[in-house]
Amino acid sequence: MSDAIPYIPDHVAIIMDGNGRWASQRGLPRFEGHRRGVDALRRTITAAEELGIRFLTVYSFSSENWRRPVAEIAELMGLLRRFIRNDLADLHARNVRIRVIGVDDGLSADIVALLDEAEKLTSSNTGLTFVVAFNYGSRREIADAVRSLAADVATGRLQPSAITEDMIAGRLSTSGIPDPDLIIRTSGEQRLSNFLLWQASYSELVFSPVLWPDFGRDALLEAIDAYRVRDRRFGGLSAAIGRSR
Ligand code: IPE
Ligand code: IPE
Ligand code: MG
Repeated sequence: MSDAIPYIPDHVAIIMDGNGRWASQRGLPRFEGHRRGVDALRRTITAAEELGIRFLTVYSFSSENWRRPVAEIAELMGLLRRFIRNDLADLHARNVRIRVIGVDDGLSADIVALLDEAEKLTSSNTGLTFVVAFNYGSRREIADAVRSLAADVATGRLQPSAITEDMIAGRLSTSGIPDPDLIIRTSGEQRLSNFLLWQASYSELVFSPVLWPDFGRDALLEAIDAYRVRDRRFGGLSAAIGRSR
């Protein structure tokens, strides 16, 4: 297939869902679904690079995923550890810049160190920006931004009347990253599950029936096809109407 696809979204964000169902459909332990999910992630990063997507964000572990059994949490942590250890050098060689959004609370020190290392090593890279949402929750992110603004108000550095939308956006962990154009959720679920609530204000949402371990270039292209025929109005008039008037 040709890569000459018009109107590739700048920023694609993905809620990688359905690993457990993929595994249980095959009579396998949930872990096997998560493990195969890492392969799907590798395929998706490669496809994003080839397609010229500039920002790819993936939801890897939510602040609510701590509600899962400890054994499953340990497996997910282990997969992240292995992914960074195995893939970091290669991603760096491919000029991928890694950003991590989420909080350190609850994470083991070695994971925090690995995530820091990935960000630092790749910070000057100019290819795909790969944003990993790990131990991420949007409400917490917004609460942290509000707290930081409130601290500035308390010290008199900031007037409440001076607070702007850009100022709030600038204190989110996604500061400097454009809002997602397209948010894909796999596995047929149709909700955001505390993902990028502020940033998703005008994102196009595409719900793919594909379970995450089966995701890859084809499913990504299908989602982009759905995105391309959307009429993004941002509250204004359709671009088509704008042209015809
Ligand atoms: C997504 O797959 C992975 C994470 C949320 C960490 P799930 O584990 O949620 O799979 P389902 O939704 O149970 O099928
Ligand atoms: C969302 O999936 C979180 C991630 C993909 C990391 P979940 O499977 O945790 O979401 P819910 O619980 O079905 O909403
Ligand atoms: Mg799920």
